Amino acid sequence: PYLLVVNGPNLNRLGQREPQVYGTETLHDVCVRVREVTEACGVAVKDFQSNHEGALIDFLQQHGPGSIGIVLNPGALGHYGYALRDCVAEVGRPVIEVHISNVHRREAFRHQLVLAPVVLGQIVGLGTAGYVLAARHLLDLWRRERG
Ligand code: DQA
Repeated sequence: PYLLVVNGPNLNRLGQREPQVYGTETLHDVCVRVREVTEACGVAVKDFQSNHEGALIDFLQQHGPGSIGIVLNPGALGHYGYALRDCVAEVGRPVIEVHISNVHRREAFRHQLVLAPVVLGQIVGLGTAGYVLAARHLLDLWRRERG
Protein backbone atom coordinates (compact mmCIF):
# COMPACT_ATOMS: atom_id res chain seq x y z
CA PRO A 1 0.00 0.00 0.00
CA TYR A 2 1.11 3.55 -0.75
CA LEU A 3 0.02 7.13 -0.13
CA LEU A 4 0.54 9.87 -2.70
CA VAL A 5 2.01 13.26 -1.82
CA VAL A 6 1.58 15.49 -4.85
CA ASN A 7 2.79 19.07 -5.16
CA GLY A 8 2.12 21.58 -7.91
CA PRO A 9 3.90 24.59 -9.36
CA ASN A 10 6.74 26.29 -7.44
CA LEU A 11 6.61 23.92 -4.50
CA ASN A 12 9.98 22.53 -5.60
CA ARG A 13 11.24 25.89 -4.25
CA LEU A 14 9.95 25.24 -0.73
CA GLY A 15 12.56 26.32 1.82
CA GLN A 16 13.97 29.05 -0.42
CA ARG A 17 10.77 30.54 -1.72
CA GLU A 18 9.29 33.39 0.39
CA PRO A 19 10.28 31.74 3.68
CA GLN A 20 8.25 34.33 5.63
CA VAL A 21 5.14 32.84 3.98
CA TYR A 22 6.04 29.18 3.43
CA GLY A 23 8.70 28.49 6.08
CA THR A 24 12.21 27.10 5.75
CA GLU A 25 11.50 23.39 5.45
CA THR A 26 12.19 21.89 2.03
CA LEU A 27 9.80 19.61 0.16
CA HIS A 28 12.21 16.77 0.88
CA ASP A 29 11.98 17.52 4.62
CA VAL A 30 8.19 17.44 4.39
CA CYS A 31 8.18 14.10 2.56
CA VAL A 32 10.53 12.63 5.18
CA ARG A 33 8.09 13.67 7.91
CA VAL A 34 5.13 12.16 6.08
CA ARG A 35 7.09 8.93 5.49
CA GLU A 36 7.84 8.63 9.20
CA VAL A 37 4.11 8.56 9.88
CA THR A 38 3.06 6.22 7.06
CA GLU A 39 5.91 3.73 7.27
CA ALA A 40 5.08 3.08 10.93
CA CYS A 41 1.79 1.70 9.52
CA GLY A 42 3.43 -0.26 6.70
CA VAL A 43 2.39 2.27 4.05
CA ALA A 44 4.87 3.68 1.52
CA VAL A 45 4.86 7.19 0.07
CA LYS A 46 5.07 8.02 -3.60
CA ASP A 47 5.81 11.71 -3.89
CA PHE A 48 5.68 13.81 -7.02
CA GLN A 49 6.13 17.49 -7.79
CA SER A 50 5.66 19.24 -11.10
CA ASN A 51 5.37 22.76 -12.38
CA HIS A 52 3.09 21.48 -15.16
CA GLU A 53 -0.61 20.75 -14.76
CA GLY A 54 -0.57 17.98 -17.38
CA ALA A 55 2.26 16.15 -15.63
CA LEU A 56 0.32 16.26 -12.36
CA ILE A 57 -2.73 14.86 -14.14
CA ASP A 58 -0.68 12.09 -15.79
CA PHE A 59 0.76 11.11 -12.41
CA LEU A 60 -2.63 11.13 -10.64
CA GLN A 61 -4.29 9.11 -13.42
CA GLN A 62 -1.55 6.52 -13.22
CA HIS A 63 -0.93 6.25 -9.48
CA GLY A 64 -4.08 7.70 -7.87
CA PRO A 65 -6.58 4.83 -8.22
CA GLY A 66 -4.21 2.31 -6.59
CA SER A 67 -3.30 4.55 -3.66
CA ILE A 68 -4.74 4.60 -0.17
CA GLY A 69 -5.33 8.33 -0.61
CA ILE A 70 -3.77 11.53 -1.85
CA VAL A 71 -2.30 14.57 -0.13
CA LEU A 72 -2.37 17.31 -2.75
CA ASN A 73 -0.96 20.81 -2.63
CA PRO A 74 -1.95 22.13 -6.05
CA GLY A 75 -0.16 25.48 -5.52
CA ALA A 76 -1.75 28.23 -7.59
CA LEU A 77 -3.56 25.60 -9.70
CA GLY A 78 -5.89 25.30 -6.72
CA HIS A 79 -7.27 28.70 -7.71
CA TYR A 80 -7.97 28.02 -11.40
CA GLY A 81 -6.91 24.50 -12.40
CA TYR A 82 -10.10 23.04 -13.86
CA ALA A 83 -8.36 20.18 -15.67
CA LEU A 84 -6.72 19.17 -12.40
CA ARG A 85 -10.10 19.44 -10.70
CA ASP A 86 -11.69 17.12 -13.28
CA CYS A 87 -8.89 14.62 -12.68
CA VAL A 88 -9.37 14.74 -8.90
CA ALA A 89 -13.14 14.31 -9.37
CA GLU A 90 -12.68 10.90 -10.98
CA VAL A 91 -9.64 9.54 -9.18
CA GLY A 92 -11.77 7.40 -6.89
CA ARG A 93 -9.62 7.78 -3.76
CA PRO A 94 -9.89 10.39 -1.00
CA VAL A 95 -7.94 13.57 -1.65
CA ILE A 96 -7.02 16.09 1.03
CA GLU A 97 -6.00 19.48 -0.35
CA VAL A 98 -3.28 21.22 1.62
CA HIS A 99 -2.20 24.83 1.47
CA ILE A 100 0.73 25.79 3.67
CA SER A 101 -0.33 29.42 3.97
CA ASN A 102 -3.79 30.65 4.94
CA VAL A 103 -4.90 31.55 1.43
CA HIS A 104 -8.04 33.24 2.77
CA ARG A 105 -5.95 35.89 4.53
CA ARG A 106 -4.02 36.66 1.35
CA GLU A 107 -4.78 38.21 -2.05
CA ALA A 108 -8.36 37.90 -3.34
CA PHE A 109 -7.31 35.64 -6.23
CA ARG A 110 -6.26 33.03 -3.65
CA HIS A 111 -9.70 32.89 -2.04
CA GLN A 112 -11.23 30.79 -4.79
CA LEU A 113 -10.34 27.09 -4.43
CA VAL A 114 -11.74 25.24 -7.41
CA LEU A 115 -10.94 21.76 -6.09
CA ALA A 116 -13.03 22.29 -2.96
CA PRO A 117 -16.17 20.48 -4.18
CA VAL A 118 -14.26 17.37 -5.29
CA VAL A 119 -11.84 16.87 -2.39
CA LEU A 120 -12.61 15.15 0.90
CA GLY A 121 -11.40 18.20 2.81
CA GLN A 122 -8.84 20.95 3.02
CA ILE A 123 -6.13 21.94 5.49
CA VAL A 124 -5.15 25.54 5.06
CA GLY A 125 -2.77 27.81 6.97
CA LEU A 126 -1.17 25.28 9.33
CA GLY A 127 2.19 25.38 7.61
CA THR A 128 3.86 22.16 6.51
CA ALA A 129 2.20 20.35 9.45
CA GLY A 130 -0.84 20.23 7.16
CA TYR A 131 0.78 17.48 5.08
CA VAL A 132 1.38 15.29 8.14
CA LEU A 133 -2.13 15.86 9.49
CA ALA A 134 -3.62 14.99 6.10
CA ALA A 135 -1.52 11.81 5.87
CA ARG A 136 -2.62 10.74 9.37
CA HIS A 137 -6.26 11.18 8.45
CA LEU A 138 -5.95 9.22 5.20
CA LEU A 139 -4.21 6.41 7.10
CA ASP A 140 -7.05 6.32 9.65
CA LEU A 141 -9.65 6.16 6.87
CA TRP A 142 -7.80 3.38 5.08
CA ARG A 143 -7.46 1.32 8.26
CA ARG A 144 -11.19 1.70 8.92
CA GLU A 145 -11.95 0.78 5.31
CA ARG A 146 -9.86 -2.40 5.62
CA GLY A 147 -11.56 -3.24 8.93
C1 DQA B 1 0.03 27.51 -1.72
C2 DQA B 1 -0.88 28.75 -1.83
C3 DQA B 1 -1.05 29.17 -3.28
O1 DQA B 1 -1.85 30.34 -3.34
C4 DQA B 1 0.29 29.47 -3.90
O2 DQA B 1 0.12 29.78 -5.27
C5 DQA B 1 1.26 28.37 -3.73
C6 DQA B 1 1.36 27.74 -2.40
C7 DQA B 1 0.30 27.14 -0.25
O3 DQA B 1 0.73 26.02 -0.01
O4 DQA B 1 0.10 27.97 0.65
O5 DQA B 1 2.02 28.03 -4.62
O6 DQA B 1 -0.62 26.40 -2.33
